[in-house]
Amino acid sequence: MLLLKRKPDTMIHTLVFCGAVLLCAWALTWTYGRRARALLAGLPGYTQLPIIGNLHKVVGDNEFVSDPEDVKAVNNAFIEKPFYYSFGRIWLGNGLVTAPGSIWKRNIKKLAGTFTGSIVDGYQEIFNTQALKLVNNLKEEVENAPFNIMHKYLAYTTLETICQTALGVARISESMVTKEYYEAFTRTLELLIRRGLNILMHPDRVYRLMPAYKELVKCVGVLHNVSNTVISNRRKEFTHRKQNGTYEHKDHENAKTKFRSFLDILLELSEADPSMTEEQIRAEVDTIIVGGQETVATTLLFTILMIGSKPDVQEKLHTEIKSIFGDSKRSVLKEDLVRMTYCEALIYETLRLYPPVPMVMRDADHDLKLQSCTVPKGTACAVNALGAGLSRRLWGPDAHEFRPERWLRGGPPHPAAFLAFSYGKRACIGKRYAMALLKTILVYCVRELEFISEADKLRLKVDIALKPEHANATRRLPQHAHTQERSRAPEKKGYEIARNMSS
Ligand code: HEM
Repeated sequence: MLLLKRKPDTMIHTLVFCGAVLLCAWALTWTYGRRARALLAGLPGYTQLPIIGNLHKVVGDNEFVSDPEDVKAVNNAFIEKPFYYSFGRIWLGNGLVTAPGSIWKRNIKKLAGTFTGSIVDGYQEIFNTQALKLVNNLKEEVENAPFNIMHKYLAYTTLETICQTALGVARISESMVTKEYYEAFTRTLELLIRRGLNILMHPDRVYRLMPAYKELVKCVGVLHNVSNTVISNRRKEFTHRKQNGTYEHKDHENAKTKFRSFLDILLELSEADPSMTEEQIRAEVDTIIVGGQETVATTLLFTILMIGSKPDVQEKLHTEIKSIFGDSKRSVLKEDLVRMTYCEALIYETLRLYPPVPMVMRDADHDLKLQSCTVPKGTACAVNALGAGLSRRLWGPDAHEFRPERWLRGGPPHPAAFLAFSYGKRACIGKRYAMALLKTILVYCVRELEFISEADKLRLKVDIALKPEHANATRRLPQHAHTQERSRAPEKKGYEIARNMSS
């Protein structure tokens, strides 16, 4: 007799096995997460969905991480960051952004004063030179087909500016921000983001076996090589000038106001403080370059998109600039920056709706009582700048509208309602720098160019910063529109910033 038996279906076995593993994992998580769930039970908006938890609450009116009193408590209580930040250490070492809490605590005391008023004022000459160069380059594109405004123009300008001010090397654009450096810089950011977004790449042991890791090491090698060379040359020059007493004198020659690069400040600090090693100096310098480049370029892009889509806003900005500079194309002075109140309101309003860093993370190293619940030790807290900026409860029923005027009535409704630069401990130390550079560039752009864009077609994506998906193409105005603009403002050239290439 022949007995026929069905062959076991390996596919079904695999599925059953995976199901069992997932079930066990879920049961373990459920058991160990019981305390956390009990403590967080009162949290407004803490509705958990399977698999994604409360990730869906990140965008929108999220009460949990964006309520100002809770933000204040979380940001002042916790200085540790979750392990994702450690991915950046291959490049940024223990610089301010990626340093563990204990190292950050030691270094922030020394570095908090590095971008104060007088230091940033000393950079104004560089800001002017870079803004002029940018606007001259943009003018050359006016008769051309659509072109990418972000990479070739805004990102490059901010990278050159931050490198010049952070490292203090004259004519650095030729010697440092080469094509190789720029490509290694942007690729390193891309690779780090890719790792952050792909959970399979998170474990170090797995990641080190991947081709992406090899590429990352190569790119970081290029970046470190440049920083090391500049730092070591500057150190030699610094020591030499200190010895023969010409240090102060030579720096005065670099700019009308006293110019002190970030690197010089670090070199000075290192003389008195042995913990400021060569490696730590490089980490801090690289961190400043990263912290100041992408954020400022993205803010500039969003601001240009906003003014381009709102002629009345652009007109008001133009009027303010004209009231300060008249028809002159002179440099922007620090005194001018204080008078640019509408421009400031415009930048803040852009940052409120489009914060380049939409969310920051903190690790709870102890339990913390919030208004309606307790954050248990071990929780990764996401502080939601985008949610806070869009909250109708905080900003009123017109919270989703772009209205720079709201800033002219005073500051934000609560000190922790505007989170673009974060709040409390580990907040941005480059705010003053960013505002001065942004205002200077806008003056140069708006007094020579007219921007037109389509705000309703704006779609957002998140990579290292929050960005418009297709926002970086600029094209010449159609002839009739161009003529109309010329008749209204004869000294201007017309641009259309197309937000969406597919449109
Ligand atoms: C519009 C431009 C900028 C925005 C929106 C911005 C935003 C932020 C945010 C949200 C943080 C907190 C990050 C976190 O907690 O993970 C931060 C930190 C930081 N930013 Fe900025 N930033 C800008 C410009 C700059 C500039 C120009 C510099 C340097 C010149 C800079 C240097 C830093 C540094 C060093 C930190 C770390 C501070 C610390 O941990 O103590 N930023 N920034």
